[in-house]
Amino acid sequence: MAQSTVESKNKKDINNGKIPAKETILSPRFYTTDFEAMENMDLSINEEELEAICEEFRKDYNRHHFVRNSEFEGAAEKLDPETRELFVDFLEGSCTSEFSGFLLYKELSKRIKVKNPLLAECFAHMARDEARHAGFLNKSMSDFGLQLDLGFLTANKDYTYFPPRSIFYATYLSEKIGYWRYIAIYRHLEKNPDSKIFPLFNYFENWCQDENRHGDFFDALMKAQPRTVKSLSQKITIGGSTFTHPIFDYFHRFRYFLNNLPLTSKLWSRFFLLAVFATMYARDLGVKKDFYNSLGLDARDYDQFVINKTNETAARVFPVVMDVYDKSFYGRLDKIVENNKVLSDIANSSDGNKVSKTFKKLPKYLSNGYQLLRLYLLKPLDSKDFQPSIR
Ligand SMILES: [Fe+2]
Ligand SMILES: [Fe+2]
Repeated sequence: MAQSTVESKNKKDINNGKIPAKETILSPRFYTTDFEAMENMDLSINEEELEAICEEFRKDYNRHHFVRNSEFEGAAEKLDPETRELFVDFLEGSCTSEFSGFLLYKELSKRIKVKNPLLAECFAHMARDEARHAGFLNKSMSDFGLQLDLGFLTANKDYTYFPPRSIFYATYLSEKIGYWRYIAIYRHLEKNPDSKIFPLFNYFENWCQDENRHGDFFDALMKAQPRTVKSLSQKITIGGSTFTHPIFDYFHRFRYFLNNLPLTSKLWSRFFLLAVFATMYARDLGVKKDFYNSLGLDARDYDQFVINKTNETAARVFPVVMDVYDKSFYGRLDKIVENNKVLSDIANSSDGNKVSKTFKKLPKYLSNGYQLLRLYLLKPLDSKDFQPSIR
């Protein structure tokens, strides 16, 4: 972490006093997708629900919510240096992920506007919300004399390509997990006001409702997906070159059909649930652990609560969900956290050269891979038989 801070400071000099986000394997990703396939989606199966959700977006419930009050004055100075560093780190990560949502939704709304106006409007409303969230976080960062250079970030960040279906899975989960994360922190601080280290947390209750609505939108969008579509795309990109021919449309349709088979959907559901849960658990119980402690939260209890709730919520739309109640589930995730701790100790140790460090790390990487594989193969819960308390 120390090294990254130095890196940020160096970049700060060449970047007009604004800091770009630190790049780690667990940082929020920036996504891009197949816009042509998106604009050609036939949503008629669930258009009514999507229209209702869009109407909710139009009401813009949080229009006047994100206004800073006098509580922010001098709040930054009250934090001790250690808590300050942890909190700034939290602000930076949250701001980047909110901004990543903004960029994706904004781009989608722009690109599909002509052919798919309803979808485009929904994305535009969501981009509005995410811009507000990112801006509000960035404003808090300026209380600490820092600011994320969002323009720099947009231009310099690598974009990960995901096909539309994967985008739906991944963004649905990140919105719902965002909802549970924010509401869990809010409720905890409501009961323990002494742990409220910054007034930002007062805004989480209404804020998380935005994320909940965004998640509901993807829920409706996934339900609108028929097995086959009229047309997808006549383009195909191989090794960076794009080729256009009507035959590629059949290829995409076939791929789409395969992707929508019940078995494929089940395998993807498990993959995305596990990827999102394992990433969050490893990060929160690893580098972010002290931040949660500073709020008086136990990172393990907090994450398990958020994962269980997100898993329950996902059962409304995913055909299967993870069996988080199996005792091996958190046992294996804890093993990964333990391995990561050893891995970072090896990486930070001064003795040994690169090769010997790699050899020391190898068993831990293999163990992580094994735990993830076993978690993936863990018999899932069928969403139909799963009756969570909150649905
Ligand atoms: Fe957001
Ligand atoms: Fe969101």
